[in-house]
Amino acid sequence: MSVLVTGGTGFIGSHTVVELLEAGYDVVVFDNFYNSKPCVLDRIKQITGKSVKFYEADMCDASAMKKIFAENEIDAVIHFAGLKAVGESVEKPLAYYKNNIGGTVVLCEEMAAAGVKRMVFSSSATVYGDPETVPMREDFPTSATNPYGETKLVIERILADVCVSDPEWSVSCLRYFNPIGAHKSGLIGEDPMGIPNNIMPRIQKVAAGEWDAITIFGNDYDTPDGTGVRDYIHVTDLAQAHIAALKRVYTVKGWECFNIGCGRGYSVLELIDAYSRASGKEIPKVIMPRRPGDIAVSYADPTKAKEVLGWEAKLTLDDMCRDAYNFLLKNPHGYED
Ligand code: WQD
Repeated sequence: MSVLVTGGTGFIGSHTVVELLEAGYDVVVFDNFYNSKPCVLDRIKQITGKSVKFYEADMCDASAMKKIFAENEIDAVIHFAGLKAVGESVEKPLAYYKNNIGGTVVLCEEMAAAGVKRMVFSSSATVYGDPETVPMREDFPTSATNPYGETKLVIERILADVCVSDPEWSVSCLRYFNPIGAHKSGLIGEDPMGIPNNIMPRIQKVAAGEWDAITIFGNDYDTPDGTGVRDYIHVTDLAQAHIAALKRVYTVKGWECFNIGCGRGYSVLELIDAYSRASGKEIPKVIMPRRPGDIAVSYADPTKAKEVLGWEAKLTLDDMCRDAYNFLLKNPHGYED
């Protein structure tokens, strides 16, 4: 039996595929390479010595999904595929709703038709909107502040409704906080297409000498040093959380959600300092106005994941920065075609 990983050549998907293969799972992957490169498959083989069965496919293409389920004995799905840029989602909401929500409906229809009723879903802490207090717990109210976050919230609700309609389904929604870092080998890491939005790939542009300075979006927040606070989590810890959730969906039915974070926040300035320590690189800073839509503080209460999944983050902020820089050193221009 195999695990199907949608979007499995992306940043978090590829790291999860590595952990799945090393845990002995047989893995089938599809990706449309919208935000990833084919060479990632070779890197995964270099790391693990194992291959995956790969399909270049789009989850909105029902016939492609049918073919994947017809040709493979799949008994669970880890679902990463989707558009994920907050800013882009504001400019192109219909593309986000059609791809992320429409594509997930097609995927679920083909899962049901094939009798595959286990899913681990890549959700996001963005579903909490701007919470009244921190740390965030899974029972906090949910709301979206942008179309990207709305797609994550709607997909969580779709999956909950599917579980109500058919009690044989088992779904685990993982609400990621801020994934950064890279595999310790430096063979896979974060290599976004185009101009990056997230802080770590932008810091890496400065470290690589491509940009002169990192922009700091606001230093007037109600935080210890005035800059935004986030719960950064090593992508390998995040990948391990998917293995824990996969085991869970084989043992229980119904819908669950889990915060996947370290449980503590670091400010932008603290992150930049940690990166400078890890890389030996000075990172010049330019203070800019706050970025629209940003919240001041976000960090997880990860108690539920520890108690129910038996998972907790192990790697530190310094590990995250060290491994991110190691990926940059080994891939100064990202993944080459
Ligand atoms: C982190 C902090 C910025 C860039 C988003 C999505 C979330 C998830 C992770 C997918 C904030 C500050 C950033 C820069 C800066 N994505 N910053 N200068 O916005 O917390 O979360 O990415 O699931 O869903 O919402 O991440 O890395 O963009 O920002 O000062 O050049 O860094 O203000 O405080 P964010 P981020």
